[in-house]
Amino acid sequence: MKVLVIGNGGREHALTWKIAASPRVDRVFVAPGNAGTLEDAENVDISATDIPGLIKFAKLNGIGLTVVGPEAPLCLGVVDAFQGEGLRVFGPSKQAAQLEGSKVFCKDLLHQATVPSAEYRTFTDAESAEHYIQDRYPDPEQDCPVVVKADGLASGKGAIVCHSPAEALEAIDRIARAREFGGAGDKLVIEERLDGPEASVLAITDGRTILPLPPAQDHKPAFDGDQGPNTGGMGAYCPTPMVDSNTMDFVLSRVLLPTVHTLKKQKIAFRGVLYAGLMLTNQGPKVLEYNVRLGDPECQPLLMRLKSDLVDILDAVVDGDLKRIDEPVWDERPAVCVVMASEGYPGDYTTGHEIRGLAEAAAVPDVKVFHAGTKMQGDRVVTAGGRVLGVTAMGSSVSAAKLQAYTAVKAIRWQGAWCRKDISDKALALDSK
Ligand code: AMP
Ligand code: GLY
Repeated sequence: MKVLVIGNGGREHALTWKIAASPRVDRVFVAPGNAGTLEDAENVDISATDIPGLIKFAKLNGIGLTVVGPEAPLCLGVVDAFQGEGLRVFGPSKQAAQLEGSKVFCKDLLHQATVPSAEYRTFTDAESAEHYIQDRYPDPEQDCPVVVKADGLASGKGAIVCHSPAEALEAIDRIARAREFGGAGDKLVIEERLDGPEASVLAITDGRTILPLPPAQDHKPAFDGDQGPNTGGMGAYCPTPMVDSNTMDFVLSRVLLPTVHTLKKQKIAFRGVLYAGLMLTNQGPKVLEYNVRLGDPECQPLLMRLKSDLVDILDAVVDGDLKRIDEPVWDERPAVCVVMASEGYPGDYTTGHEIRGLAEAAAVPDVKVFHAGTKMQGDRVVTAGGRVLGVTAMGSSVSAAKLQAYTAVKAIRWQGAWCRKDISDKALALDSK
C-alpha cells in the first residue's frame, strides 16, 4: 500500500517513520514534509492546506491511506473532501474537528456530556465580556481567577491565564478588539482558572471503540521550571506517572466515553485521535481542552514506544472497525523527547542556519532524531522553523531515557540552538516522593 502523510512537523516525521516501518507499506509520501521525512519517505511539494492539490496527488498516485497530522486541514474539512472522492483517510470530519476548532463548541459539548471541566461563559462581543468581569470583580486589587480564550484556532496562543481584573480586561481587548488572533476572536470564552499539573491523555477511536494510549506529559512554557511564554511544546515524555491507572480509568469512563457518546447522539461520528488536555486538580482530572489529532511533541515518545503496526490501527479506524484490533503492544521502556528550538522562539527567529552533528546524534543508542522545522539546502540540513528537532530516546527508566536524549542533544549544533534542560523532571520528582 502507498500512504500519504499530511504535514511538516515533528509529529509528522514520527508518523512517517512509524508508517514506513510497516510491512504492509511500500511507499510513504509526505506533503510537504521536512528534511527528516526525506530520510524515511518521499516529500511532495504540496501544502498541508491545499486540499484540491492533495486530492489530485492521492488519486494520481493510487494512495491507499492518507493520514492527516495537523489541525488546520482537519478544521478545513480535508477528511470530508477526501471521503467525497472515495479516498481512504484517517482523521475526524470537519464537524468533529470543531472540538478543537471552536472552544465554544468544545465547552458546550463537555457541559452536555457532564465531563469535568472549568465553569465557563461565552461572549460574542467585547462589551458584554468586559461587563461580566467588571460586575464580578469590581475591586481592581482582587484576585480574578479566570482564563480568557479566543474561540478559534490560534496556534496554542489563544488562552490567556489571568490573575487580576486588569489582566482579564486586557485579554478581552487583545482577543475581541485588537483582534490579535483574527477571526478566531469572533467569540470568546471566559472560564474558571484551575490549578494543578497538566497531562495529555490521547485515544484513538472510530466513534464506537476507544483505544486509550499511554499518558504523556508536555512542557508548554519556554524555559526551565515552567517559566516564560507558552510554546507549541518544548518536550514530552511517556508514560507519565502523573496519571496512574485509577486516573486512566476515570479519564476513560468520565471523559472520553461520554464525549464520544454525546457526539454520536448529535450524529457526529468521531474517527481519529481524541486528545484530552487535562489538569489534575484537587477535585480530580478536568479537561482544559480537546485536540483532534496527535499531540506534538507527545506523538514522538508515544510512537517510539509503540511496537504494534500503526497502519493496522489507522486502517481499522478508517473501516469503522477498531474493535478488530488487539490491544497494542508497547515497549516497557519510557521515552523522552527534547525539543531543540531556534534562538528567539516562540517570538521572532531567523532560519537557514546549518545544523551539524545529526549523524553523531543518530548514532547514540536508542535515539531517534525527529525533524520539525528543517529543510534541505543543497546537501546541507538547515533550520526552517521555531521548533527544529525533537530528539527522542528510550531508556530503562525515565532518568536513563532523559540522559540518553540529552547525550544526543549535545552532539547537535547550529547558531542559536537551545532547549529546556529539565524535560521529564516532573516524573523524577514524583518518583522520589
Ligand atoms: P488551551 O489552548 O485551552 O489548551 O490552553 C493552553 C494552556 O492554557 C493550557 O495548557 C493551560 O496551561 C492553560 N489553561 C487553559 N485553560 C485553563 C484553565 N481553565 N485554568 C488554568 N489554566 C488553563
Ligand atoms: N503538545 C500540545 C499540542 O500538540 O497541542
